[in-house]
Amino acid sequence: MRKKLLMGNWKMNKTNQEAKEFVEACGDIVKLAKEHNIDVGVAPTFLALCCAKKHAPEGLIISSQNVHHLTNGAYTGEVSTEMLQAINVNWAIIGHSERRTYNNETSEACNLKIKKLLSAKMVPLYCCGESLETYDKGETKAFVKDQIVKGFKDINKEDASKVVIAYEPIWSIGTGKNASKEIAEDICGYIRSIIKELYGEQVADQIRILYGGSVKPNNIKEYLSSPNIDGALVGGASLKIDSYKELLTNIL
Ligand code: PGA
Repeated sequence: MRKKLLMGNWKMNKTNQEAKEFVEACGDIVKLAKEHNIDVGVAPTFLALCCAKKHAPEGLIISSQNVHHLTNGAYTGEVSTEMLQAINVNWAIIGHSERRTYNNETSEACNLKIKKLLSAKMVPLYCCGESLETYDKGETKAFVKDQIVKGFKDINKEDASKVVIAYEPIWSIGTGKNASKEIAEDICGYIRSIIKELYGEQVADQIRILYGGSVKPNNIKEYLSSPNIDGALVGGASLKIDSYKELLTNIL
């Protein structure tokens, strides 16, 4: 049985103080999640990670939103897995569509980051998803397959099962135009079938696949009741503590 996961992606939001106040208010949420065997977490900015980690209740996953694939060196503005681990941050979102769009991140670059995270025994949350143009052309599956195959290149079976995948159609992110649960289930099921082709049934059964894109308290349940959707990556609706709590209580 795959453990459900609710992950908030804060993007470029919240000062250290705001992050602190949010995580300090998460005690009940973490307790409730634990009672129902659900993983919960948030991904603050690099700047707020240390503060969030320090004040978060035990059991709240604190994830970064990115990482570099090397250990150190002349890479202005970058952060390594070693630096994250030094503050006990063990998760990183990789290949979010905003990073692919605004920072030209390719699936090949994501693959290097995923491998670095896995070698550090950290958890990569690898995002994939197509643009509206690709969706309209009916090329979603081919596009997503390419992102998955490239992202998982040279990753062995044992490591592959530790990656969490998030399917986020770009046209649904922050737009309020969420993909229907049928579309989300179809593509998440398809991604699982690619993992099966690459790694076999056992890994396909184990790997967690999330849906993301305009997930709100009032629609999260329909996604999570679909057989191939194991959780949600939530932007806007994860920023306020009441809404974040409602996301959880609505899937219990
Ligand atoms: P949204 O963002 O929930 O605000 O659409 C989701 C994401 O980008 O991860």
